[in-house]
Amino acid sequence: MRLFFFSLLFCAAPSWAWDDGTTPFVVSPDAVVERMLYLAQPKAGERLVDLGSGDGRIVIEAAKRFGAKGLGVDIDPRLVKLATDNAKRAGVESLASFEVKDLFETDLHGVSVVTMYLLPEVNLQLLPRLIDQLKPGARIVSHDYDLGPWPFDEMIELGLAEKMVGPLGRSRVFLWVVPADARGRWAADLPELGGRWQFDIGQKFQILDVDARAGDSKMVVRGARLRGEEIRMAVTGQVGGKGYNVLFAGRIADRRIEGTVRVSDGESYRTIPWKASR
Ligand SMILES: C[S@@+](CC[C@H](N)C(=O)[O-])C[C@H]1O[C@@H](n2cnc3c(N)ncnc32)[C@H](O)[C@@H]1O
Repeated sequence: MRLFFFSLLFCAAPSWAWDDGTTPFVVSPDAVVERMLYLAQPKAGERLVDLGSGDGRIVIEAAKRFGAKGLGVDIDPRLVKLATDNAKRAGVESLASFEVKDLFETDLHGVSVVTMYLLPEVNLQLLPRLIDQLKPGARIVSHDYDLGPWPFDEMIELGLAEKMVGPLGRSRVFLWVVPADARGRWAADLPELGGRWQFDIGQKFQILDVDARAGDSKMVVRGARLRGEEIRMAVTGQVGGKGYNVLFAGRIADRRIEGTVRVSDGESYRTIPWKASR
């Protein structure tokens, strides 16, 4: 029943439909598919899944342009057949496959890129699965609708005069990068920056709330966030009576962070290595 309403609601003015008019669906225009893949940047060998794959265009384009191994799942067997035929016609059937499957039953473990063009409430129902099953660094791109409480990492908006569904005459493409778990207390030895540093990190999605101390000095932290496993934060404050502006950048792997610190102390700029453990 839910699927029936989904099709009706979403596909009121399809740009493609079956000849008999039943089970219509809406395709993402080519310009949107291009932006989705531009944001997702699938790499050769990575696995991509399009949840609700329609005629297969996203999976097929990802295979053609990026060599990505893709799976499209759709609840409608006729669309799965169409997508499979389209993949053969495009010569990418070894990379692009399609299955009749409910998107809520599709396993996303090990998947690097998830694409979707679904209704806002479907996105919200999917959110816990995306968070539970995708690994840090995996990218999610969605046409037109966001993921509610999860702030996007990037968004592209483009004008499309011919667009007759959703936001009329325009499309939005959202990107989220699944963040690593950065929560907890981290310590780093930075002799050049006053010795022992301590970071207490709270986290909501990719946004970090960081309390930083250098020795006995409390520092001011701005713009701390994650992009997958990459952490960045700008820190200012006094260390040993000297004012510093520092930019920490690093990669989180399990209980360690390794990266670099760009230091400006009013006299010079330099970059030093940085390691922290939790
Ligand atoms: C708006 S179309 C998007 C097609 C394609 N991803 C694109 O962007 O061009 C949404 C597709 O989701 C499919 N769909 C709807 N509910 C689904 C469900 N529960 N499981 C799998 N597919 C579903 C529909 O059949 C339809 O083909």
